[in-house]
Amino acid sequence: MKIKNIPAGSRDLIFDKCIEKNTLIESIIKNFKDRGYSEIITPYLEYADVFSQNKAFDTNTLYKMIDTSNSTISLRADSTTPIARVVATRLNKEKLPLKLYYNQSVFRASNIHKGKLAQITQCGTELIGQSSIAADTDIISLAIETLSKAIGDDFKIEIGFASLFNILVKECNISSEDESIVRSLIENKNFTGVRDVLEKYGEKATKLIKLPELFGDITVLDTALSIYTSFETISVINYLKELYANLKAKKLDKYVVFDLGLVQKIEYYTGIIFSGYISGKGESILSGGRYDSLIGKFGYDVPACGFAINIEPILDRKAVVNIKDKPLRIAVTKGRLEKKTLELLENSGIPIDSLKDKGRKLIFTSNDGKYELLLAKASDVITYVEHGVCDLGIVGKDTILENGSSFYEIKDLGFGRCKFALAGKKGDNFYEGYDKKIIATKYPNVTKDFFDKKGIDVEIIKIEGSVELAPILELSNAIVDIVETGNTLYENGLEVYEDVAEVSARLIANVASMKLMKKQISNLLFSIQDGKVN
Ligand code: PRP
Repeated sequence: MKIKNIPAGSRDLIFDKCIEKNTLIESIIKNFKDRGYSEIITPYLEYADVFSQNKAFDTNTLYKMIDTSNSTISLRADSTTPIARVVATRLNKEKLPLKLYYNQSVFRASNIHKGKLAQITQCGTELIGQSSIAADTDIISLAIETLSKAIGDDFKIEIGFASLFNILVKECNISSEDESIVRSLIENKNFTGVRDVLEKYGEKATKLIKLPELFGDITVLDTALSIYTSFETISVINYLKELYANLKAKKLDKYVVFDLGLVQKIEYYTGIIFSGYISGKGESILSGGRYDSLIGKFGYDVPACGFAINIEPILDRKAVVNIKDKPLRIAVTKGRLEKKTLELLENSGIPIDSLKDKGRKLIFTSNDGKYELLLAKASDVITYVEHGVCDLGIVGKDTILENGSSFYEIKDLGFGRCKFALAGKKGDNFYEGYDKKIIATKYPNVTKDFFDKKGIDVEIIKIEGSVELAPILELSNAIVDIVETGNTLYENGLEVYEDVAEVSARLIANVASMKLMKKQISNLLFSIQDGKVN
C-alpha cells in the first residue's frame, strides 16, 4: 500500500511555503478586486465533455472517472471553459461586461518522471461581453500591473494573434494535412522543418516560412508589415501596433514583446494571445487571450478575454538572475555527437580550453565567459532544456522524435546524419504471414508512431542497446533503430526493410530562454552559420 507517498506531480506545502503561496495569491487577488472583478468558484468535477468538446484539450491530459450514473467526469483541467459554461447557463441575464476572477487549482496529467506538476493553482480573470481594443488593452495592462505588484519588474509579456496563422495558411493555399504539420513546427520554432515542408509550395509560402522568425521587440511588427501585404494581415499587425501604443501610453511598454508565430495549443483563442515569462523559470507563468466563440459553444454568444497566472512556477523559480550578465548554458550530447559539436563551437569562435583536459568535470566555461557547456546523455539534454536549467541543447533528431518536444527546435546543424530504419534478417519478407509482428527497439514511441500511421498493430519490446541481437536471437521479427554506415546490420546478416525518418543533430532552445535571451541566442546562431562542420 502506498500510504506514505503522494502521486507524481503533487506536493505537500508546509509552514513557510504556505505563507509564501498565500502572500503571492493575496497580492494578485487584491489587484483583481481593486479593478472591479468578483470571484467565481467552479466545481472540481465537470463532465469530461466540457473539456473535450472544442478540441481545447488533449484528452490524454484529463483526469477522468466514471460516476455512479456511468457518465465520464473529469477533474477541472482549466478554469476558462467551466466559467464559459457558467456564464452561458447561469449568468446570461447579467449586465455586461461581467468581470470575474478565480483562484483555484487545475489538474493535468502528464507522463510520469517528467517533473511536471499535476495540480497547478491558477489566479485569473475573465472580462466578458466586450470586444474592443480597449478591452484587450485593459486585460493586458491588468496582467502586467498584477505581476509587477506581485513579483517585481523582472518579466516579459509576449503578445501574438491567434488567427494570423490561419489567415496565412489560407493565403498560401496550404493543404490541410500540411497545415497541421506546419502548425506544430511553427509552435516549436522549427525554422528548418517549416522550410522543408513548405518548399514544394514555392514563392507563395515565403510568408508562412517567415512567421516563426517574427518575434522580439516592437520592431518585428514593422518587419512583418514589409512581408505581409494583404488587407487581413495588415489589419492584424496594425491592431497589435495600436495595442502597443495604448500600453505605452500607460507606461507598460517595457514589459511587452511580440511573437507573431505564437500558435497556442488551446484552440479556443480567436484574437490576441499572450504569455508571461520570468528569468529562472523555463516555462510560461501566465497565459491568456481573446476567446470570442467559446461561450457561444455553451449557447450564449458573447465575446470575452482573460488570462491565468500559474502560481507554483513563480514559487518554484530559481534565484532571480540578471539576464544580461548570465552566460548561455548549453547542454551537449555526449558520445556520438560530442566531437562534431565541439568542433562546431571551435569553428564558430567559441573556444573552450577547459574541455581539452576535462577529467571528471561536468560543466565548462568558454574562454570568453559568455557560454557554459555541460555534457549529458541525449535524453537528459532534452530534460535540462525543457526545464530551463539549460538555455540550449545539442541533440539528435532521434532523441527529439522519441521524447516529444516542449522546446524550440531552432536549427538543423547538419552533422550526425543517419536514419531510423526498420530492419531485420536478410531475405525475410517482413509483411508476410498473419501473426502480429514483434519489433525490438530503443525507440518505442517512434516505432509506435511509424506503425500507427500504417495502421499495423505490432508488439513492441524495449531493448537498451545492441538491438540487432533481438532478430538474430529470434526475440523479434525486426528492429527499428539508427543506421549510420550500415556496418552493424551488414556484419550481422541483417538488412534495411524500410526507412522510417532522417536524423541529424539539432540545436534546441528552452521556450523562456528564447524570449528572454533572444539577443544572445541570435548571436550564437549567427556565429554558427559560419562554423559549419561536416
Ligand atoms: C547505434 C545503433 C546501431 C549502430 C548503427 O548504436 O543502435 O546499433 O549505432 O551504426 P552503423 O550503421 O554505423 O553500424 P550505438 O553504437 O549508439 O550503441 P548501442 O548499439 O549500444 O545502442
